[in-house]
Parts: sequence; structure tokens; C-alpha cells
Amino acid sequence: MSVIEMQSRLVEEIQEWKEKRNAIILAHNYELPEVQDIADVLGDSLSLARATVNTSADVIVFCGVHFMAETAAILNPEKTVLLPDLEAGCSLADSITVDQLRAWKAQHPSAVVVAYVNTTAEVKAESDYCCTSSNAVDIVRSIPEDKEILFLPDMFLGSFVKNETGRDNMHIWMGECHVHAGIAPHDVEDVLKQHPKAELLVHPECGCSTSSMYLKSEGVLPKDKTYILSTGNMLKHSKNSMTDEFIVATEVGIIHQMEKQNPEKRFVPANPKAVCPYMKMITLEKVLDALKENKHIITVPSETAKQASLAIERMISIG
Ligand code: 13P
Ligand code: SF4
Repeated sequence: MSVIEMQSRLVEEIQEWKEKRNAIILAHNYELPEVQDIADVLGDSLSLARATVNTSADVIVFCGVHFMAETAAILNPEKTVLLPDLEAGCSLADSITVDQLRAWKAQHPSAVVVAYVNTTAEVKAESDYCCTSSNAVDIVRSIPEDKEILFLPDMFLGSFVKNETGRDNMHIWMGECHVHAGIAPHDVEDVLKQHPKAELLVHPECGCSTSSMYLKSEGVLPKDKTYILSTGNMLKHSKNSMTDEFIVATEVGIIHQMEKQNPEKRFVPANPKAVCPYMKMITLEKVLDALKENKHIITVPSETAKQASLAIERMISIG
């Protein structure tokens, strides 16, 4: 049997099991192309979190990473949330522990804590607000200006938000995603030299995002052609833009969707090595096993879930 025949057989079986179990498949924009192609909902972190609460399915198969499935489980305690590979973690979520957060809060007892969704449930339970890359600026703007803010764990997203909002009472945790931190300013500049007419789409988690903002304000990067966006907004932008060439500074998995939606346009990765090993752990075989064998069920202890849910619900409702 050829690889294509094997894949289409797997897809058929997945569809049968999905119906049998009244399941929905959610996938993040960084998943493998064949996993993206079987998703009922494909999107960025915020749209996927929202999709979990707007479904009548009994089972949610989360093709993403652990913190995403945990967030879905907190929002939907009555549904079964499955993560096809338990090893699908996140280096950014690992960059702050709950004990580190408690110690930081003790140094700033009256501060409001804003946690990026890429955090463990325990860290969310110690936070006042969660945010994603698409609503972080709106969430920080919604907090009274005189309130000190602890923003965690991503330093590049943090400095982007600080710059956009002009807040000087915002402290930023020095965490990073190893995939995005690896997209360096010189990567962007080199690719831009080869594609001078292209628009530049930068994820705010990138190592180049802070310098991109600076270089844009200095006019080194084209002001009218440089955009700092979440993955969902990158997809919207590339569809609506009149330009036909884009440099994409984020995990390369998103290019599959960009090309599918815009076959006449060209998408060039800022760094082709920006591949998230965790997102790529989810395969069609594992999705089928998850549905057949009910694995791996993601649950969060009820006390942690209760404490984390307020911050997550604020995230869902803003922006
Ligand atoms: P968004 O899809 O929300 O932009 O997040 C990117 C990411 O790194 C998810 O882990
Ligand atoms: Fe985490 Fe980075 Fe992978 Fe996103 S790309 S899941 S932030 S390691």
C-alpha cells in the first residue's frame, strides 16, 4: 500500500471513530499538514480555546500541546479532552514554575499577574488574567494604568506588549520559546534582502520581534510592510493583503495553511529550521489511537481548575 493510500485509510477510520464517539478534532496552525487537514477547527490558541466551549461534542481531540489540552479541560469539565501524545509539551510553558511565580508575586504583592496561555494549569491558578498573542495588548490595556503588572513567561511578547501599550509599570519574566527565540534579527534581514518586495509577518514570541519593532520604527524594516501578528491573524492578513509574497517569522507549520488558502501567493520562512518538535509529535496514527483507546485523557485537579478558570474566562472574553 502506498503512503497516500495508507493516509487516506487512516483518515477514513478517524472519521468513523469521530462519529462513533461524537468527537471534534481541534488542531493548531503548527501541526503537521496531514493533521491540519483532518481538523474540524484549525486555528491559533485563542480561537481553539473558544472552540472548545462552543461545541456540542462529547470528546475533544486536541492536536496541539499539553497546556492547550489542559486549558480545554478546565473550560469543559464535563467533556473528555484527549491529547494524542502526552510528550507534546512546550519549552515556553516550562520556563516558569508555580514556585517561581509565587516568589515573584511575594516581591510585588499588589501587582496584577498576566500569564500567557503557554503556562501550566498551576501557574494559571496563581494568575489574574490569561492572554494569547492575539489579545495580550487588549488585556493589558483593560487593566487600570496605575496597577503594576507581572507579565509572564515570554520576554519577547512581553516587550512587544509593553511597547504597544507604553506601560512602564510592567515587569516581564525572562522566559522564551526555543523555536521562536531561534528566529534571529539577522535571519529576517537576510531573507528580506533576497525578497525586498515581500511583506514581513512576525510572531511576537520571536527573537526578532523586539528588534523588528525597533527596526520598523527606525525605518530599517519597511514601516508599511512589517506586521507583528498571532498565527490566526497572520493567516487573515495573508489572505486579505494585495501583496503576493510574504516572509513568515514563526513556526513553519503555518505555511501549509497559507499556501492552501492562497495558492497564487508565495510564502518564505524567515528561518526554515523553526520547527516545534512538540507540535510535530501528533500524527494521524496517534489521533486514531486516541479516539479508539480514549487516550490520553487530560484532567486538572478541581481546586486548581477552579482557581485557573477565572483567568482563562477573562482571556476568552477579551479581544
Ligand atoms: P498563537 O497561535 O496563539 O499565535 O500561538 C503561537 C504558539 O506558539 C502556540 O504555542
Ligand atoms: Fe511552545 Fe514554542 Fe512549540 Fe509554541 S512553538 S508550543 S511556544 S515550544
